[in-house]
Amino acid sequence: MAKPKFIVDREQLEKLAPMLKAPIRRQVFVCTGKSCAAVGAETVKKEFARILEAKGLRQGKESKGRNPLGEILLTECGSIGFCTVGTAVMVYPDGTLYGQVQPEDVAEIVEEHVEKGNVVKRLALMELPPGK
Ligand code: FES
Repeated sequence: MAKPKFIVDREQLEKLAPMLKAPIRRQVFVCTGKSCAAVGAETVKKEFARILEAKGLRQGKESKGRNPLGEILLTECGSIGFCTVGTAVMVYPDGTLYGQVQPEDVAEIVEEHVEKGNVVKRLALMELPPGK
């Protein structure tokens, strides 16, 4: 396998990965691992996508209904260890790990946490300490 070329030029990098130019404030991860999928993770993920896109917050291609300069990244991920208490959702850089998230909780997480920075305590199972 050929070693990938290491790109140094920032302009070239931004052309290849347009999200580098977006004013990203937070990244929301939704676990769609096997156990979370069994309790409706796909619907939770779709609800995050629907609300974030309706508000123009989700960064991504315009052709996909997203905002190239959106402030929020929505990312699907694998298991984080909350398998028996899914659907698991993480909000970074805050380091908040939510469990038992249902589609009807998503609007509150977006409005309170993603937009205002207030953790939704009733769903937060862990808050990781800030990095050093
Ligand atoms: S499958 Fe989602 S936390 Fe394990």
